[in-house]
This record gives sequence, structure tokens and C-alpha cells, in this order.
Amino acid sequence: MCYAIPGRVKALHDNVAIVDYFGEEKRALNELDDLAPGDYIYAQGGYVIEKILPKEAQAILATWKEVFFQLQETDLRLSRLDFEKEGVEKRLLRILDKALEHITLTRTEVAYLFSVKSQKALELIGKTANFLRQKYLKNSCCVHGIIEISNHCVQRCTYCGISQHNTTLPRYRMSVDEIISTAVRAVKEYGFKALVLQGGEDPAYSQDELCKIVRSIKEEAHVLISISFGEIGIEALKKLYDAGARALLMRFETSNKKLYRSIRPGKDLDERLLHIRKAEEFGYLIMTGALIGIPGQTKDDIINDIYLAKELKAEMYSFGPFIPHPATPLAKSVPCNGVDVLNTLAMIRFIDPLRAKILITTAFETLQHDAREKGLLAGANSVMLNVTPIAKRQAYAIYPDRMYQATDVGIQINETLSLLRGLGRAPTDLGVHLVP
Ligand code: 5AD
Repeated sequence: MCYAIPGRVKALHDNVAIVDYFGEEKRALNELDDLAPGDYIYAQGGYVIEKILPKEAQAILATWKEVFFQLQETDLRLSRLDFEKEGVEKRLLRILDKALEHITLTRTEVAYLFSVKSQKALELIGKTANFLRQKYLKNSCCVHGIIEISNHCVQRCTYCGISQHNTTLPRYRMSVDEIISTAVRAVKEYGFKALVLQGGEDPAYSQDELCKIVRSIKEEAHVLISISFGEIGIEALKKLYDAGARALLMRFETSNKKLYRSIRPGKDLDERLLHIRKAEEFGYLIMTGALIGIPGQTKDDIINDIYLAKELKAEMYSFGPFIPHPATPLAKSVPCNGVDVLNTLAMIRFIDPLRAKILITTAFETLQHDAREKGLLAGANSVMLNVTPIAKRQAYAIYPDRMYQATDVGIQINETLSLLRGLGRAPTDLGVHLVP
């Protein structure tokens, strides 16, 4: 099973490889010592992950070739802008035309798009976002795996079901060896090329242990590792980068300082942002975003969240709905609605059209069963599969009734591939596009 298509290195300029995929060229950063033009590789998140034998690569490419172009055709067909303009407000059409011509939208225009309510207007916005995704990023869709290593957490976030508020939750902590073997299996048995290691803020793992986990996985398997352990400190971030972690998944949750203080008592937004900014300086790819629909949050806040994620140089935007958990202070709040989530995904595409990888979160999938398809057709191009051992998954209850709590990894993969195939998306992460 492979989630990335092999590419052929056309040229190497210092640590930048120019990689050919059936005539399409992408750039990928190289950290391998022995790479040379002509080699076949897998790239992930803009990094060369692994060199593969030419024979193996050619065999995979032979089976992919026809499918690759068929998928592109399907995607092109599904992302056509064939909408009915009758009865649509002129202002909306003017703004969408501007976006289509790649003229940066003003904040007021984005706010207007985010305020429309009619079904037709919403459809138009989603379709335009999908068109922009196809135009600039073609049909590649990231498929990352996530391993939830521990549900212990020292924080008291008012929204989170694994916070200290939840006194009845059975807690688990995977051992160093179990984390390594789960990750290696995800790569070797299931073919993942990118994995996120996530946990609550759990000081039981020392910095050395976390580094050992990352280092050992990289020694045993070729994979892009993202870390998501909360605010572990700048020094730990640096050490983990040196151990081989290459991406940081850390949401800032909300860009509204006052709201932030109210949902994360005793915590400061600036401290969190410092982690993200420092990580970016160290070289991490940044995956960040916010919760949508926190009580007291306005649409303006959400727009600010998107601009902040962009300013933080988000490689991947992770924006998902807030779903109340009964064991938290926000238990009685109104959950976020699906339309707001879809619209947020589209707004991200309008604000960062050229490069945004936009994730469909499991929370959105929990909220509505067709979230993936709807999201992928409204500007998004990333999904994440849960590869945590099933026996532990249920206890990672950040919100109730999470999707895929008991779904075998193989089944998740098949469902995902079948959906992507239907939509004409290639389950690839081909790195940074060479946008003309
Ligand atoms: N609903 C949705 N998402 C949640 N998270 C935590 N609690 C909830 C909830 N009740 C998200 C946070 C965190 C991520 C790991 O899980 O945004 O960053």
C-alpha cells in the first residue's frame, strides 16, 4: 500500500531536489547523503523521505500511470465552475471573480463571504474554493496517520475531554517501545509516509524519551514525523527537531486573547504562539489552526484565526468544530454547526489559495457523516487516519463519540482510498508545487 507516488529526481540544487511526477515538477528538501539525479524517491511534506530501487519505482509507476491521469480528469470535471449565476448577489459574484483572478481579497470581502446565508451562495463559495484548490494544488491529497500516545494531561482546558476536569476517564500511556512499534508498523505494514505523534501534556515522558521515540522510528522506517505534545518548551522543540521530527502540530485554539484566557485558564496565547514561531525558526513545518464554534467566539474571531495561521506560515491548516464534552465546564454549550465548518474551510482557501493544505478533522467527521466529501469539495485537501491501537482509542476522548474509535486501520485506508478515487484525488503528498 503506498500513499505517495514515487518521483524521479531531475536535478539537485544544494539541498533542493527537483522531482518529476509524470511530467509535473515539484520541489522537495533533501536530507539524504547519497541522493543523485536519476534516483527515484518518495517525498512527503516537501521532504525527500526515502530512496527507492528503480525497478520497484518503475513497477509502481506503471500501475499508477493510467490511474494518475484518470484521477486528474475526474478531479477536473468535479471542480468545474458550472454554477448558475441567476439570482445571486452581484457583490458576491464580483468577490468570487476577484479570487478567481488571483487578486487578494480584502478583509471586508472575506467577512462578507463568511456572512452569506443562502444555500445557493454557500454552494457557490464552496465550489469556487474547490476550483482554486484544483487550479493551484491539483489533485494531491495528504493522508497522514495519527498515533495518540497518552491521554494524561496536566492542563485544565475548559473544552477538552482529556483535561483535568474529566476525573472519571480511564487514563493510558503508551510505553516508548509500543509507540515505536506502532509507528514502524504504520509505515511498514500500512504504507504511511507521514505520522503525527500526539498526546495530552504528559510530563511522564522525559525529553530524552520523546527524542528516543522520534530517533528510533526514523532509524527503523522512512517517514515524516510531526509532533503534537502541547507546550513542551522551546528547548525540547529544538531537541526533538535534532532527533528528526520535522513538523509541529499545535493549534493556538483561538486568536482572541481574552477568549483564550477563558478557555485555557492560567495560560497565555503569546506563550503558545512563541512555541509555534520558534518551531518554524528551527525548521519545522507548521500545522496549526483553531477551534470553530467555541462559546463566545465571533465570525470575526474565526477570520482572525485564519489570518493568524497564515502569518504563522501554516503548511497545514487544522480547523475543526468544537464539540462539547459532558465532563467539562463547557458541557452544556451549543455544538458548532457543519455549515460554519465548511465555510471556514472555504475561507482558508480564499485567504491562502496557493499553498494551503487544509485538513478535514475527525471532529468534523464526527459532526456529520459526509464531512470528508463535502470538505474536499469546498477547498480542503488533507485527511488524517487514526492508527492508535484500538484498545486505547476510545479513551482519547477529547470530545464524545469520536469517529473511527473502533475502525481497523486497513478499513479506514480502504474507505479513504475509495472516497478519494471517486473524487479524483491522488493520495499523495508531493511536496511544494512549482506554481508558475
Ligand atoms: N471539541 C473539538 N475539538 C477539541 N479539541 C479538544 N477538545 C475538543 C472538543 N471538545 C481539540 C483541540 C486540540 C486538539 C488536539 O483537539 O483543538 O488542539
